Amino acid sequence: MAEYTLVAGKTGEKYLTAEEKRERYGMLAEQLRSALHDEPDLLAAMTTTACLLHNAFPYYFWTGFYRRVSEDELLVGPYQGTMGCLRIRFDRGVCGAAARERRTMLVPDVHAFPGHIACDSNSASEIVVPVFDARGELVAVLDVDSDVPAAFDEVDREHLEEIVALLADKSPLPVVYGGA
Ligand code: SME
Repeated sequence: MAEYTLVAGKTGEKYLTAEEKRERYGMLAEQLRSALHDEPDLLAAMTTTACLLHNAFPYYFWTGFYRRVSEDELLVGPYQGTMGCLRIRFDRGVCGAAARERRTMLVPDVHAFPGHIACDSNSASEIVVPVFDARGELVAVLDVDSDVPAAFDEVDREHLEEIVALLADKSPLPVVYGGA
């Protein structure tokens, strides 16, 4: 595995130019690809993805996954940020909409989104990207919230969709306790 290097600090301007975003996402994707290529476990891959993303962008406030645990329900997975709510039904919030419609939701103003779930009142804008497995089944959503309005755009969408595609070949491995 490549030596661990944080691609960027969380300090600095909250709003990055499209060029700055592209550069950071590019570095990040390369680092993730190298970290995950020989790791089959989905939970480890999600945890590493959330960590690297969260620490690379100053406008990321809450970064993590909600895993699909039934036909119509999501359960919180690995994340960074303040405490998130645990379960989200498909008919609730931005995460539910992304899971239900199986498409990325770009929300510049969360307060204008009907049914938005306010886990933290500092959240101002968000992007939620569906995560599919190799068979095209929805397995999770990646939820990123920002404390500044309209933080996410098409550049974030393009790169985050590319990044979650790295999870498609991972699977939840059983945890084995005890010796043989
Ligand atoms: N923003 C989400 C809820 C989850 S938290 O923000 C961590 C939504 O409305 O789906």
